[in-house]
Amino acid sequence: MNIKTYLSEQRAVVESALERFMLPAEGPFKPHIEAMRYSLFAGGKRVRPILCLAAGSAIDDSRQTYENLMPVSCALECIHTYSLIHDDLPAMDDDELRRGKPTNHVLYGEAGAILAGDGLLTFAFQLLSDDTTATLEPTSRLRIMSLIATAAGSLGMVGGQSLDIASENTEFPFETLKTIHRSKTGALITCSVQAGAVAAGANQEQFSRLTEYGDNVGLAFQIVDDLLNATATTEQLGKAAGSDVVRGKATYPGYFGIEETRRLAQEAVDRAIASLSSFDAKAEPLRAIAEYIYTRSN
Ligand code: IPE
Ligand code: IPE
Ligand code: MG
Ligand code: MG
Repeated sequence: MNIKTYLSEQRAVVESALERFMLPAEGPFKPHIEAMRYSLFAGGKRVRPILCLAAGSAIDDSRQTYENLMPVSCALECIHTYSLIHDDLPAMDDDELRRGKPTNHVLYGEAGAILAGDGLLTFAFQLLSDDTTATLEPTSRLRIMSLIATAAGSLGMVGGQSLDIASENTEFPFETLKTIHRSKTGALITCSVQAGAVAAGANQEQFSRLTEYGDNVGLAFQIVDDLLNATATTEQLGKAAGSDVVRGKATYPGYFGIEETRRLAQEAVDRAIASLSSFDAKAEPLRAIAEYIYTRSN
């Protein structure tokens, strides 16, 4: 399959679904909603929603399932975008460029950016709990919400972010580095795949194979993010290159060097693809996304 065409088609579908679901910038809170919309529509790759759609479609490629996956996918992108807004704040990574544009706090101020993030995180759960946008069984809906809340929270992404900040300019064992990557980035990626699987009615075996896929793709994704930070340009990334060294971040290249890091990323991708061995051609996009995550240039 042509992964470039696939990704750009899926990205366009996600873009229009986000446009459909997202609050319009009007009413008394217009400036706040504008700040949320600014970052949400700033042009991300939409990897998490696309993974959710691809995982669900690997189980059941019917139109109905695809439609049911849409609000779940959009909720994941809202949570991801909130995490980027907060990640860029002066008290966190202090970055001024994101998705090729000024970061949220540069335009809306720190209070505005904190609230835009809060708004997006909360809106995600409004979207997930809204039973007019998808015909999910209440038990599936609840399970999806629980998976996403757990992954985004203190034992997942938020915990990982706290460890990432605490580990700046420190000596740490490899276990800590792995925990940072698996939690700050891996957790939301794994739960994107899991949420898609649940929405599509995956059985126990399919769910655990897809979880293994998500864990490995999530780890590879952050290792490659580290590699790109060390080797690509700011223009290419649409965010500051070289910033990890400046901030003394815990990264794979910092720990292993570039070549060994590349090998570890490739290994994680290989493990991701191997975990799909019992899936048929409907899982082809998932296999191609795993390859893309290693070869991506931004
Ligand atoms: C960047 O995520 C932050 C990480 C968790 C590594 P993406 O690379 O998915 O960023 P966008 O959404 O495309 O901007
Ligand atoms: C981002 O990690 C993780 C989250 C936003 C949860 P990084 O700080 O390494 O990502 P970039 O390089 O700023 O996108
Ligand atoms: Mg960070
Ligand atoms: Mg950052």
